[in-house]
Amino acid sequence: MLFDSFTLGKLALRNRLVMAPMTRNRATADHVPTAIMATYYAQRASLGLIVTEGTAPSADGAGYARIPGLYNDAQVSAWKVVTDAVHAAGGHIFAQIMHTGRASHVDNLPPGARVVSSSATPLPDPVYTDSQALQPASPPHALTEAEIAAVVAEYADSARHAIAAGFDGIELHGANGYLIDQFLNGNHNTRTDGYGGSADNRNRFALDVAKATTAAIGADRVGFRMSPHGNFNGMGSFDGDDAQFIALATALGKLGLVYLHLVNHESMGNPPLPATLSAELKAAFGGTFIASGGLDAEKGEALLQSGAADLIAFGRAALATPDLVERLASEAPLNTPDFGTFYTPGEPGYTDYPVLAAT
Ligand SMILES: Cc1cc2nc3c(=O)[nH]c(=O)nc-3n(C[C@H](O)[C@H](O)[C@H](O)COP(=O)(O)O)c2cc1C
Repeated sequence: MLFDSFTLGKLALRNRLVMAPMTRNRATADHVPTAIMATYYAQRASLGLIVTEGTAPSADGAGYARIPGLYNDAQVSAWKVVTDAVHAAGGHIFAQIMHTGRASHVDNLPPGARVVSSSATPLPDPVYTDSQALQPASPPHALTEAEIAAVVAEYADSARHAIAAGFDGIELHGANGYLIDQFLNGNHNTRTDGYGGSADNRNRFALDVAKATTAAIGADRVGFRMSPHGNFNGMGSFDGDDAQFIALATALGKLGLVYLHLVNHESMGNPPLPATLSAELKAAFGGTFIASGGLDAEKGEALLQSGAADLIAFGRAALATPDLVERLASEAPLNTPDFGTFYTPGEPGYTDYPVLAAT
């Protein structure tokens, strides 16, 4: 089944393999995509769907060094080169919209931008900056309700920019402790207004963003990624979390989002997902379901065969093996990912992983 075609919204994917979103920090210091990004993604276009690295919807959301954005014309033009290259190679590509929120440092932000979140508690972890390497994360400003409405509008604008740049759709990054997750998570979100204090209120920002972006570009072009129980960026389990995420999946399903993408980062040191939660989220959402995290061909095939997932995402395997589809199909060994070049500028460890014929 892994190699069977699949209909996602209006798209005909040539197989059920998805390239998981991976931040690679190869854009410019001004958060504009570079030519090598077109090469990198086109090399991986044989996967049925590529989800790009996290991409900022606004200047405030660009809190990591050299991550790309989708909030100005230069970024749209530069992304067009990427999407054209992927389409020319027969692939499909969604932009992952990632507002870093408090996972940010002011040195990484464009002039005048600021670090924002649901609550004013700073990220407990340091953030890398090109100027001074690791720095304590900048303390965030807790958004007011009026400011939240403006941030939601930024997401909708970035969705329109994504379509103008030739993307087939967007994935809202609701996982891993970035801005949407900073609203979802009851450990960090200590608000007492309409955006905190109850499960429905903590889900409100995610749903506002989902509604605004689906209104902007159509629900068949918007997916959502979530990571219940994930502990990246100071998140982690909280009271009532399973029920809250199931309610969110139900609401996203009602909006008709094109997929739900579940993160299981047990393979990256996170606690395991409760055995039944994945099935409950899939049932609650009711549409296309992507599984990700620590998967190989055997595990992915088993998930497809059992009906536990519709599409299978590969992260580090796709990063290191441009011809992943061909290698999985022929049971050839994969390249080994080089952690040392995951986030460094330039081509080494980015566009120079060998394909099978060259190994
Ligand atoms: C270098 C790197 C960067 C990542 N950046 C992102 C990101 O921007 N957005 C996201 O949702 N997940 C990100 N992830 C998580 C991956 O999408 C994926 O969930 C994770 O690697 C587990 O899948 P795997 O076991 O197949 O690698 C990143 C992972 C890696 C290795």
